[in-house]
Amino acid sequence: MIDVILGLQWGDEGKGKIVDFFASDYDVIARFQGGPNAGHTLYVDNTKVVLHQIPSGVFHSNTINLIGNGVVLDPVTLKRECDTVSSFGIDLKKNLFVAERTHLILPTHRALDKASEISKGHDKIGSTLKGIGPTYMDKTGRNGLRVGDLVRSDFRTAYDKLSKKHWQLLDGYSFDEDISAWEKEFFDGVEFLKGLNIVSGEYFINDHLSAGKRILAEGAQGSMLDIDFGTFPFVTSSNTITAGVCSGLGVAPQKIKDVLGVTKAYCTRVGGGPFPTELEDSIGEELRKIGNEFGATTGRPRRCGWIDLVALKFACMINGVTKIVMTKADVLDSFDELQVCTAYKADGNNTEEVPYQMTGINLEPMYKKFKGWKIDSSVLKVEKELPAAMQQYVGFINQYLGVKVNYISNGPGRDQIVSLS
Ligand code: GDP
Ligand code: IMO
Ligand code: MG
Repeated sequence: MIDVILGLQWGDEGKGKIVDFFASDYDVIARFQGGPNAGHTLYVDNTKVVLHQIPSGVFHSNTINLIGNGVVLDPVTLKRECDTVSSFGIDLKKNLFVAERTHLILPTHRALDKASEISKGHDKIGSTLKGIGPTYMDKTGRNGLRVGDLVRSDFRTAYDKLSKKHWQLLDGYSFDEDISAWEKEFFDGVEFLKGLNIVSGEYFINDHLSAGKRILAEGAQGSMLDIDFGTFPFVTSSNTITAGVCSGLGVAPQKIKDVLGVTKAYCTRVGGGPFPTELEDSIGEELRKIGNEFGATTGRPRRCGWIDLVALKFACMINGVTKIVMTKADVLDSFDELQVCTAYKADGNNTEEVPYQMTGINLEPMYKKFKGWKIDSSVLKVEKELPAAMQQYVGFINQYLGVKVNYISNGPGRDQIVSLS
């Protein structure tokens, strides 16, 4: 069977830490979508590492890691990440596999991402500029190049053909930056990638399933950034939800067992787009400061606000979440009062549903207030030590969502997590 860990908000929920925490229970960890737009932070021997494309189980010597076909892969970032991971003594020849159907991010995809964002002006998505959108466009537009194409003797010709097509679009944007340095890095990265284990991802996963191995699918971004169900057009370009596991790895839906949804105890968003519970005041500033809310990939300050149960319940529904992991509970330690969004007033009407569009309407969050717990929760180890105020906060969330918070993460460290009965 295959379990899934994915984000329930707008990304950066702490998926990397949680995957790393559970990794030793699994034989294989697989990324099924996204690309180097992701930044998953974990701590290895007290050293901070941010992974972008390599699954977060890579530091466990007994797990093997697969970059699945649903991912879009940048050989430049991959080579850099592999160098970092290898410096910890990890043998990537043994424990990293790449699906041959995975699409490649070309330097011109990055250029197109940049040119497209500039052309949008104030309406820009706030993309990470890693070339994600243009690469997925070439996938669905049936133009892209895949990892399996690297061994083709005419790979360079195919690259030049696609790149020429991109330059026609770039000329339309009047983009005239010299990207020859990116191209050099790209071809160095390609040579490196050719030396990794390139496999048929779908047979790899299904053979492991048949052999009774335990598999964990690691999501990137978050459910509210999903291309179909997120706050379109302010989303990423892949299916970040459970359904993405099937198409992004080649597994049947009935093989999926547990879906662990990760949410912060509050909420953040990086980039543009609607965020109903955003706090543009001193409380939002405080959350950003205490939570160190700056992007792991781009360093941009994250927008901060209270937890949004309307959006969370929607995410639980779309994903079939069976267990919730609540991260960064410790960030709320010093607040006297906490708020939880239980409904929206959308153009004057109360609703507990996520509307089709959150922009262009008057959307007001409605809150229930809770008392803060006002203790240092980062040192707590077991459920019975949790303060009553935290239990009330979590108890209400369980009841509202109809899915239980099974774990509370109370610090960035691997051992900072409390299991709930
Ligand atoms: P991801 O993209 O979902 O993997 O999350 P990021 O790594 O982008 O952002 C989460 C940040 O919160 C990282 O800096 C983590 O080290 C940190 N973090 C994760 N869990 C906790 C927690 O429970 N408490 C605190 N204080 N930090 C956490
Ligand atoms: P992890 O996996 C938070 C956001 C960008 C932008 C939008 C589209 O670390 O949670 P893209 O580069 O995909 O075209 O950007 O999505 N975004 C993320 N926000 N965490 C992420 O990944 C993100 N990946 C993309 O900021 O608003
Ligand atoms: Mg992140």
